[in-house]
Amino acid sequence: MELMEAIRKRRSIRKFKEDKIPKEDIYEIIEAATLAPSAHNRQMWHFIAVSNEAILKKMGEAVVNEIEEVSSWPELDEGMRIKVRGMKAYSTFFVKAPLVFVVLIKPYHSMVDELSKLKGGSKGEIEFWHPRLEIQSVAAAVENLLLAAADKGYGACWMGGPLIAASALKEILKIEDPWQLMALVPLGIPDQEARPKVTKKIEEVLEFRE
Ligand SMILES: Cc1cc2nc3c(=O)[nH]c(=O)nc-3n(C[C@H](O)[C@H](O)[C@H](O)COP(=O)(O)O)c2cc1C
Repeated sequence: MELMEAIRKRRSIRKFKEDKIPKEDIYEIIEAATLAPSAHNRQMWHFIAVSNEAILKKMGEAVVNEIEEVSSWPELDEGMRIKVRGMKAYSTFFVKAPLVFVVLIKPYHSMVDELSKLKGGSKGEIEFWHPRLEIQSVAAAVENLLLAAADKGYGACWMGGPLIAASALKEILKIEDPWQLMALVPLGIPDQEARPKVTKKIEEVLEFRE
């Protein structure tokens, strides 16, 4: 498949057939992820391929419990409570995927941190730059992963919603610091049509300085 074709074909898929994912496909998809650029080539990513149904069930329950807990916060008004509860479906469909990639990220101490400190940069500036280089790097890896998956005919979805239960998920998956959860990516043979794609017009997001 041509690159642009895979880019156009990649869509968020949230319903999957039960078919297992062959190991060689998992390796190739993760190889694509690891070919992404990363700040200082630190490759501050790690992937756990979870296909164990009992583990996925536990993860899903942890997300539901956390959403229930957050939705009962007295600080929430009724509108927010409904919105939080509404996150459930958006955050738990991964449980039914034949495979879920858990994407981990670890902190990267960048040159920008050092320079900001030398210049007496405000904490605000340091905080602005510091976490973003590793996030940018791992995000590039996730996109490569999604494109490689689309290229192979799989559907997948980048998920941040389940991170509401990040601590519980870390415990279930026995993930130790400094690794943190960055995303879940359920993957499988699509069992749905993607929703129509809505993108901003190119003129809205592109400008020239010539
Ligand atoms: C950082 C990030 C987090 C996301 N989290 C979720 C999520 O938790 N649940 C979900 O259903 N989709 C999630 N998505 C998918 C977006 O909803 C989706 O990419 C967007 O609607 C555009 O649709 P498309 O991917 O089909 O082009 C996430 C996407 C990104 C990039």
